[in-house]
Amino acid sequence: MIQLFNQDCLLAMAGMKDKQYQLAIVDPPYGINIVEAIRKSTVVGTSSMFKMTKGRDGSDFDGQIPDESYFVELKRVSVNQIIWGGNYFLDYLGRTNGFAIWDKMNGTNPMADAELAWTSFDKCTKMFRMHHFSKGYDAKIHPTQKPTRLYEWLLNNYANKGDKILDTHCGSGSILIACDIMGYSIDAYEIDKDYYEAAKARLERHQKQGKLFG
Ligand SMILES: C[S@@+](CC[C@H](N)C(=O)[O-])C[C@H]1O[C@@H](n2cnc3c(N)ncnc32)[C@H](O)[C@@H]1O
Repeated sequence: MIQLFNQDCLLAMAGMKDKQYQLAIVDPPYGINIVEAIRKSTVVGTSSMFKMTKGRDGSDFDGQIPDESYFVELKRVSVNQIIWGGNYFLDYLGRTNGFAIWDKMNGTNPMADAELAWTSFDKCTKMFRMHHFSKGYDAKIHPTQKPTRLYEWLLNNYANKGDKILDTHCGSGSILIACDIMGYSIDAYEIDKDYYEAAKARLERHQKQGKLFG
């Protein structure tokens, strides 16, 4: 079952049981003011993201990282964790045997070449390659949207069939579509009403297409 809640994940986690989820795949704010950076950026391809954030009051969700209690709770409610932006949270996460890396194939542009996810797994570092603005990318509805294919790759490499997945910071819903395609149950949380509505509508569009052509 795919479930998306328009709720603060910290409040939701307070009501979750210990190790309720086999795998948490999360993407919290990195504290780097990414929306502001996108607004100022002159890099080709970022203007569409700029439009997306325009007029959205308080759209800069990325000003502050979650505090330590979030990471304590996340480890309490899940057996394993994959945490995007892990390099920004090392004070709270400690050592890892392996990161999951998304190589964005950015070429010579000044944006980050890759994103790093901290993982709790006893596995070596693994890398997924997909160009940030490639044609295979889904239409963008969120300024920091990750590709559905990246989440499919994570599920293929780190999840076991039957695992129940948790995403505390859902954003665009790419992970919901990946879970739907691959048959995983997920509970996901998104605090912003607009992003929540957009992700829900995106999932519904995907599920309708699946029924038409599947
Ligand atoms: C980095 S984005 C996630 C992007 C997502 N991985 C994607 O592919 O679209 C972080 C999201 O977390 C949401 N958020 C921030 N604080 C939250 C909280 N306490 N509970 C739930 N969602 C939160 C923000 O509104 C934002 O959409």
